[in-house]
Amino acid sequence: MTSSKPRVIVTRKLPAAIETRMMELFDTSLNVDDTPFSNEQLAQALQEADVLVPSLSDVLDASLLVQAGDNLKLIANFGTGTDHIDIKAAQAQGITVTNTPGVLTEDTADMTMALILATVRRMPEGMGMIQSGTWQGWSPAGMMGHRVSGKRLGIVGMGRIGQAVARRARAFGLSIHYHNRQRVREVTEQELEATYWESLDQMLARMDIVSVNCPHTPATYHLLSARRLRLMKPDSYLINTARGEIVDEQALVSMLEDGKLAGAGLDVFEKEPAINPKMLAMENVVLLPHMGSATLEGRVEMGEKVIINIRTHADGHTPPDRVLEGLI
Ligand code: DGY
Repeated sequence: MTSSKPRVIVTRKLPAAIETRMMELFDTSLNVDDTPFSNEQLAQALQEADVLVPSLSDVLDASLLVQAGDNLKLIANFGTGTDHIDIKAAQAQGITVTNTPGVLTEDTADMTMALILATVRRMPEGMGMIQSGTWQGWSPAGMMGHRVSGKRLGIVGMGRIGQAVARRARAFGLSIHYHNRQRVREVTEQELEATYWESLDQMLARMDIVSVNCPHTPATYHLLSARRLRLMKPDSYLINTARGEIVDEQALVSMLEDGKLAGAGLDVFEKEPAINPKMLAMENVVLLPHMGSATLEGRVEMGEKVIINIRTHADGHTPPDRVLEGLI
């Protein structure tokens, strides 16, 4: 018997409530044990599905997309970043791509602040002392980090997440600076008391903390190149909760090794899940496993967006979160 429901293939395990609703609404295949799909499995899914629901661990490049079956009309990504999908190739094949913007903003901004505090105040180092039993008690010169209040924070990318970071950072007494492709509205600048730098180079050279909050696109790949990282002050910190590819990680590691940066707080990496082993041994580097948006509430809202995008598309309308090449 053929089904009138769209055939939806989900590549990773999603929150139970979302999976259950997808089973009710669509002819859905779930990935119950959450093993990432191989390229062969992705190609097969592209051939069989009407709708594919991938996430950031599925690299859908042109060579894979060309194998899509005629029925595949929608890739409803579970996630905001779509840098793992060749949007242009998808569009050329008449496949619509959607994502889940907006619902990760507050969670990712929280994690950015957590990384700023953890790195500048040396929190994991302190916790390590307790866990290893090496703490000898309080001492006047023990575990000194730096005061966060009064420092300058340079935000690279003043979109939703950048602005949410700025709002939080102001409450911690940081002064807000930003670089963005386009200057934000005057009212937003005033609300955040934010200073705009048209020149990223100029901004980097003056900041105490730099936070990367822009999407990864061909234009932002290695935006923080070796040359730009060298512009940063030796007593400054780099925080990245966006995408590893925006920072030249090799150059960052060399600078940290040479003491040319005070520290880094990273939730994302260039070759996830691989981590440069040199960073594992650095006490001034705080590393998290890409968990900036990992809250149950956020993941459920992402799933709801995926469902809305599929339903709207199935009903013949333009889904609300359609991603267009050139607009990311
Ligand atoms: C996204 O949605 O792009 C996030 O990085 C996933 O956590």
